[in-house]
Amino acid sequence: MNRNNLVLIGFMGTGKSTIGKLLARNLNWTYKDTDLEIEQAVGCSIPELFSSRGEALFREVESAALRRILAESQQVVATGGGCVLAEQNCLLMEKSGFVVSLNASVETIVSRVEGAKDRPLLAGNTREKVVELMHKRRGVYSFAHYHVDTDGLDPEEVADIIIQEFHRH
Ligand code: S3P
Repeated sequence: MNRNNLVLIGFMGTGKSTIGKLLARNLNWTYKDTDLEIEQAVGCSIPELFSSRGEALFREVESAALRRILAESQQVVATGGGCVLAEQNCLLMEKSGFVVSLNASVETIVSRVEGAKDRPLLAGNTREKVVELMHKRRGVYSFAHYHVDTDGLDPEEVADIIIQEFHRH
């Protein structure tokens, strides 16, 4: 397995950014975030990009951002929840680093994302949208090398579990 990068995947609100920053600090690696990379590349926010250009264009920009990031190494990469929808992205993640999937229940996710305005796919009834999208995305995170159930754990505990597993490989 390639240990050049540590890549976090998982549904929105599973804690990828928070845990990614902790991991990067622990490993003394660079923290990268596909959403931030996208916003820098296009010069507007993700909701603005979704409303002006649509999801299809967003996905193209997202794949390009992931390719740019994974051309480098020694990074902890937090990916957007839908980054795994393109198979080529999954193949690239799998060969560029240790891929960790963060899992969480609907309850945990809703409690984390409720009220935030920065996720266009969850606009409206948050709970309904989460349930519907999780159902649609069943199995898309299963290609990860390692899975962590984050329910009931704080970010430090999740980061510790991942670090231990990472050093075992
Ligand atoms: C998305 C997840 C978001 C962001 C965009 C679309 C998705 O990232 O990329 O709103 O399709 O699941 P987070 O998972 O960091 O919220």
